[in-house]
Amino acid sequence: MSGMTPLTESRSRHEGHPSQRKLVVHCLTGSAMGTVLDDIARLRASVLQAWPDLHDGDASAERARLEPCARSWRSIAVVVMDGAQTVGAALGLPLEDDHGAMRQAFELAGRDTTTAFLLAGSVLLPAYRGRQLGHRFFSERENHARSLGGFESAVFASLERDDNDPRRPPFGRSNEAFWRRRGYTRNEALTFPPPARPESAGFPAARQVAWTRPLERGY
Ligand SMILES: CC(C)(COP(=O)(O)OP(=O)(O)OC[C@H]1O[C@@H](n2cnc3c(N)ncnc32)[C@H](O)[C@@H]1OP(=O)(O)O)[C@@H](O)C(=O)NCCC(=O)NCCS
Repeated sequence: MSGMTPLTESRSRHEGHPSQRKLVVHCLTGSAMGTVLDDIARLRASVLQAWPDLHDGDASAERARLEPCARSWRSIAVVVMDGAQTVGAALGLPLEDDHGAMRQAFELAGRDTTTAFLLAGSVLLPAYRGRQLGHRFFSERENHARSLGGFESAVFASLERDDNDPRRPPFGRSNEAFWRRRGYTRNEALTFPPPARPESAGFPAARQVAWTRPLERGY
């Protein structure tokens, strides 16, 4: 029939792109995260090698770093799934249950290690970023710490690299504005060196700095 618009079907050019896909977020606590730790280690190795100073893309080394989370009954893993693929993960555990440099920094500064909840890294594949999952990672872990009770602060380590470090990725972005909006402040009194790695020899020195926020209820 002339003059009528033919039946059409509109398809977005972006259909099927990760940014359009429905994702599922799981929160696993304590030993329940055992089944996903290998996947998280692989994901961390792949995302964090974009800035190969602390991390060298070695999944077995990443897996070893997750051991304190696996052992702690008060830990949490926030895992983002696209179908069967793990595309994002964030971890947290009581600082007391970790044995890394952050805990030593607290001890050296005379701070109480028993009331701090450690946010032990969050990673998301680049194609899935910008969908508020970074916020979700923080909220789930902070709320988990609140629900456990006894935690007065949340803390995480930021790796600070020299502006002139030639390994800096060209389009890397700082998370600092995001962290401040989440209520965190940089804590100059809690600094510590990153693990020594032969690959870092000859490059400008980096350091790790704690960012903390109070864990009052109702945030
Ligand atoms: C950190 C990370 C998990 C956040 O994921 P995300 O999808 O960007 O998170 P969100 O969508 O919730 O955005 C969080 C904030 O990041 C900022 N942001 C997001 N996309 C951005 C972009 N393209 N450019 C600049 N800032 C951006 C915004 O400030 C946003 O906060 P707002 O919503 O209040 O404006 C992810 O970027 C990542 O895996 N980065 C690499 C690993 C890393 O740096 N991890 C943190 C230390 S372990």
